[in-house]
Amino acid sequence: MNEIILITGANAGLGKDAARQLAENPDTKKIYLACRNETKAKSAKAELELITGRNIFEIMIVDVSKPNSVRSAIANLEEPIDALIMNAGGMGGKKPGELTVDGVSTIFAANVLGHVIMVDELLKADKLKHVAMYASSEGVRGVKKMGIKKPEFKSHSVEEFISIFNGSNFVEKVNGNTLYAYIKYAATLWMSAMARKHPAVRFISMSPGATSGTEVTNNLPLFEKIMYKYIGFPILMPLMGMVHKLEKGAQRYVKAITDESLISGKFYASSDNKLTGPVTDQSNISPDLVNETYQDNAYEAIHRFAA
Ligand SMILES: NC(=O)c1ccc[n+]([C@@H]2O[C@H](COP(=O)([O-])OP(=O)(O)OC[C@H]3O[C@@H](n4cnc5c(N)ncnc54)[C@H](OP(=O)(O)O)[C@@H]3O)[C@@H](O)[C@H]2O)c1
Repeated sequence: MNEIILITGANAGLGKDAARQLAENPDTKKIYLACRNETKAKSAKAELELITGRNIFEIMIVDVSKPNSVRSAIANLEEPIDALIMNAGGMGGKKPGELTVDGVSTIFAANVLGHVIMVDELLKADKLKHVAMYASSEGVRGVKKMGIKKPEFKSHSVEEFISIFNGSNFVEKVNGNTLYAYIKYAATLWMSAMARKHPAVRFISMSPGATSGTEVTNNLPLFEKIMYKYIGFPILMPLMGMVHKLEKGAQRYVKAITDESLISGKFYASSDNKLTGPVTDQSNISPDLVNETYQDNAYEAIHRFAA
């Protein structure tokens, strides 16, 4: 049972709606809203208390793109949590490929590195009791209908993963969308490796599906923002049945941490060529996801930056 739940990036979009839905379950006793901006966190907390009528939300200030911020937030956490929802991140803002002081791209730092450190610190301190969910994406296995290509690898070696995280793999300027698919792919493999290494905890990767009503398109470069925020999400994708509402996307997070029939180490998302609808095991679409060598190489490459 998930009495205490921690959600990263809980002040907006999918994270905030998942907090709202989980608070509707009387078994939920506390939800940590892990956010980087205190003002936004306080306003989300007040809104959630008002909507749900429950006073179970606690703010944790943490910037998941900064390893030390993550380490000190987990060190200051005074009790174990039952469930972790790794939701913070997105398309990496205006300069997703820009390197951080840790030598990795901004998009990788926020979506992956901080979460990996968070899980490691929680496990080390015996503060993660039951389940960890990672917000992945259908981009990991590509969506032909939308022209979204599956990430291509030469060898899936540790070095190749490293070259993706530090950007050296991309000789030409690469856009946020492409980077996004590669780093979510690596994180999804890392989750499967974690499931094998830590069988006492469940590790579920779940895509929320293409979800409208979030802020994910707000900080994109101008052209992409116009394409996604004003044309793709509100007009084209609904016409093609390729987007669902916020509530549906966040429901997938709730399913990921509560549905015990889901198998630890698997990645669940929409069925082939879809971005909405019921979720299925993605290894049927993308068998490379169950390759344990690839999983271990992604794990090791990430840990070169997480030490
Ligand atoms: N929406 C979709 O269609 C879709 C599809 C597949 C996967 N996803 C994934 O779902 C997750 C949530 O997306 P969303 O659409 O709900 O986006 P969103 O509305 O932009 O919410 C993202 C949340 O993450 C937080 N965040 C970003 N960087 C952070 C950092 N370094 N430290 C702490 N918090 C940080 C944001 O905080 P601030 O307000 O401070 O920026 C915000 O609360 C992302 O991982 C995204 O990749 C979304």
